[in-house]
Amino acid sequence: MTKESITRRDFLGLAQIGGVSLLLSACAPKKLQLPLPTPAGFPEGESPDIELSLTAIPDRVQILPGNKTTVWRYQGKVMSGPSAALQEIPNSYLGPIIHVYKGQRIRIHFHNQLPEPSIVHWHGLHVPPAADGHPRLVIDPGETYQYDFTVMDRAGTYWYHPHPHGRTGGQVYAGLAGLFIIHDQDEDLIDLPSGEYDIPLVIQDRIFDSENQLVYGSRGMMDQMMGFLGDRILINGQPDFYLQVKSQPYRLRLLNGSNSRIYKLAWDDGSPLMVIGTDGGLLEKPVEKEFITLAPAQRIEIWEDFGQGGSGSSKNLINLPFDGYGGQVTYSVAKVTVVKSDSSGTPLPDTLSVHKMHDIKDAVNHLSPRSFQLAIASGMVWTLNGRTFEMEEVAPNEIVKLNDLEVWEFENLPGGGMGMMGGMSLPHPIHLHALQFQVIERITAPSTQEGWQSLSDGLVDEGWHDTVLVFPGEKVKILAKFEDFTGLYLYHCHNLEHEDMGMMRNYLVEA
Ligand code: C2O
Ligand code: CU
Ligand code: CU
Repeated sequence: MTKESITRRDFLGLAQIGGVSLLLSACAPKKLQLPLPTPAGFPEGESPDIELSLTAIPDRVQILPGNKTTVWRYQGKVMSGPSAALQEIPNSYLGPIIHVYKGQRIRIHFHNQLPEPSIVHWHGLHVPPAADGHPRLVIDPGETYQYDFTVMDRAGTYWYHPHPHGRTGGQVYAGLAGLFIIHDQDEDLIDLPSGEYDIPLVIQDRIFDSENQLVYGSRGMMDQMMGFLGDRILINGQPDFYLQVKSQPYRLRLLNGSNSRIYKLAWDDGSPLMVIGTDGGLLEKPVEKEFITLAPAQRIEIWEDFGQGGSGSSKNLINLPFDGYGGQVTYSVAKVTVVKSDSSGTPLPDTLSVHKMHDIKDAVNHLSPRSFQLAIASGMVWTLNGRTFEMEEVAPNEIVKLNDLEVWEFENLPGGGMGMMGGMSLPHPIHLHALQFQVIERITAPSTQEGWQSLSDGLVDEGWHDTVLVFPGEKVKILAKFEDFTGLYLYHCHNLEHEDMGMMRNYLVEA
C-alpha cells in the first residue's frame, strides 16, 4: 500500500506540473457553500427496521495454500432486526451480503478501524446525500459514521464499497466490498430460483506475490493510466472457484467487483446465457446472449438450468478473448459441476417484471443533451470535460434541477483525444450515483468499429443501469431522472484507478 501511495503522489505531482486544468474561465467550476449533510435520521416515532454495524478492519485470511494473506475487510453485525439481514460468505474477505426489503428503514453504523480515512458508498442505491458516501464525508481511523435511509430501489443486486478520494482503488483491492441485495413484493410474485438456488458470484482479479500477499500499483504510472489488471481470478474471494449444483434451475447474480478488468463471459459449451437482470433489477423479459460484456461495477443476473446435462456433467463460465484491455486470453472464471439429480425447479417465466420506463420526449434537454467528453489531459490524466475531481465544486454544466428528466451524452474520444499518435484508447465504465438510468443510444465512429465489435454484442443495454461502458470512439446517451433528494452526488469512471486519479466529478441537484 505504501508503495502505491507514493507512486500516486509522484504521479499527481507530475500531472500538476504539466498543468492539469484545461478550464475555460467562462465556465469555471463554482465553489459550493454547502454545509456537510448531517444524517437525516428518521421521522419522530419511526425507528429503523434493521440496524447494523459494519466495521472495516485489517485481517489475515487463507486465500492460497501456505501463508495467509493480509486483507482489509468489512465485518458486520445485526444490532436489531432479522438476523437474515446479514449473510456471511464463508472463507472470504468479502463483506457480508446485506439483505433488505424495499420500504425498510435501515440504520448502519460504519466503524473505521483501518489505518487511514474511509467512508462507505451504497452503489446503485437511491439515498440522500448524507447516506451516499461522498469522499468529503470520510471519517478518520477510530471514528463512526451513521447511515440512515429508507430502501427505495427495486429488488436487485447492488453493492457497497469504500469511496475516499484517491484511495477507493486501493481499499477495494485490499478486500473492502460486499453485496447489497434488495428484495421486494413484485419479485416475490414470480417464480425464480431462491435460497440455495440463488447464488452470488463476485468476480475480481488480483496479483499475489511469492508470500501470498496482494500486489497493487507495482507498475506505477501504467497501472494508473490503464487501470490495474491482475493475473488471477477470484470468485467470492476464492481462487479456482468451483461450484457444485443440483440438476436444477439457478439464479446467478454476477458482480464485476474488479478495479478495472472487463469480462467477456460465456459458457464453455457454447450455450447461450439467459440474462434476467441488470444493475437495477429484473428485466421485463429474459434476453438471450452468446456472451456478456461485464464492466467494473456492473451486475448481471443469469438464469441457468443445470438439469440439461444431468448428474456428473459440468459447465464452466469462461472469459472469451477480445481485442485489447487485458482481454487477449481465454481463461476459466467459475467451474460448475452437477452433483445431484433433482428436477423440482420451475421453468423460466416469460415475463419477469413491468418497467415504468422514461420517455425521451419528456426530457427537458432532449434536443440538446448535456455532454461529457472522456479524454486525457496533458498526456497523463483522465478527465471529464477536461476536468478532474474537485471535492466541493461543480461546473455550470454539472447542476441539474430536482425532478428533471435529462439526456446525458458521454463521448469517449478516440486515442483519449490525443489523436492517432501517442494516444491511448480505453473503454470507460461511467457511473452515476443515486439513481438508475436507461441507456438509449450508442453511436460508434467507423474507425473504431473493429475492436468494438468483439465486445459490443455482449452489452445488455435493456433495463435499468447505474454504470454504462463507453467504448473508444463511441457516444452513449442515457436518460436519467433526478428525484427526491437535493444535494451533492458524484459521477465518475468506475475504472477505480481512473476514478482515483480524478476521473470523477460532482453533480448538484437543486430544488
Ligand atoms: Cu461504485 Cu462512486 O461508486
Ligand atoms: Cu455508486
Ligand atoms: Cu476510465
